[in-house]
Amino acid sequence: MPEKKAILLDCDPGHDDAVAILMALKSEKIDLRAITVVAGNQTLEKNVNNTLHVCQHMGSNVAVYAGCDRPLLKEPFHAGFVHGESGLDGVEFEPLEKTARNRHAVSFITDYLNAALEPVTVVATGPLTNIALALRLCPKIAGRIGEILLMGGSMGAGNITPAAEFNMFCDPEAADIVFRSGIPVRMVGLDVTQKAMCVPAIYERIRAHGGKACELFGDMMQYYCMMEKEVFGVEGGALHDPVTIAWLIDPEILRFEPMLVEVDRIPGPSYGRTNCDRHHLRSEPANAMVATEIDVERFWTVVEETLKKEDKS
Ligand code: BDR
Ligand code: CA
Repeated sequence: MPEKKAILLDCDPGHDDAVAILMALKSEKIDLRAITVVAGNQTLEKNVNNTLHVCQHMGSNVAVYAGCDRPLLKEPFHAGFVHGESGLDGVEFEPLEKTARNRHAVSFITDYLNAALEPVTVVATGPLTNIALALRLCPKIAGRIGEILLMGGSMGAGNITPAAEFNMFCDPEAADIVFRSGIPVRMVGLDVTQKAMCVPAIYERIRAHGGKACELFGDMMQYYCMMEKEVFGVEGGALHDPVTIAWLIDPEILRFEPMLVEVDRIPGPSYGRTNCDRHHLRSEPANAMVATEIDVERFWTVVEETLKKEDKS
């Protein structure tokens, strides 16, 4: 039996977050301790409902906690133009019975990490509001986090403004707190995730395996690819968030380089941009490992093999 990696997943489902949840639930290499939810792709309430729906669909009793309903400082910003009115349009679920735990996600995160006997990997696939607030509320949890593995940022262009990636743009102040925290940070940004393009041939092949996860993947990707094509004019949809989980399952998928990442928080056209010092031009030391290359074929193998696995007991 391979060793399981204990993770907390903080997310804002969202189609690609939902696939990350499916993979974390299915992989025998991952021990998903809890899911915390943040506002981002849609409102907090919608993202929580989507999380609960996906978990219920998979028959999972993993605990779900609702967190922050807005960024630390700026006005909320959502991505209904990609993920739809519900945040997970294109999918029909059974009526919802599963409920979120009656406790704020940030309070859960701080207590959980304080009590953790071993370092926990925090995977963040939405705006970093919950994580930043937890670090401010209880700074000593930094010592309990093995690594923050986040989807967000870009060495190159943005996807929501010319400069900024969506998760960073939603809450740049929170992202700044995370990058300055001193905790090992692994940034999986657009430079690699935009190469993980899900095209119809891929989602149809995976859907054809049958089973709850593969069929849900097919339905979600059909809608997501259609919207991504409308918004970005490319064939298919970039499967951003699952690249984090895929890397935990198979570390050969990504290549990382150490660099200083600074989040632009100055109002203007670069607000939310991650300035990545790839060529070590600044005097400050690196504060993150940034993904620079992805083995796309290997990524899809991991996604497909993980989703078609028998459900974990
Ligand atoms: C990120 O933005 C969201 O819309 C996706 O879920 C992903 O986390 C990509 O920029
Ligand atoms: Ca997300």
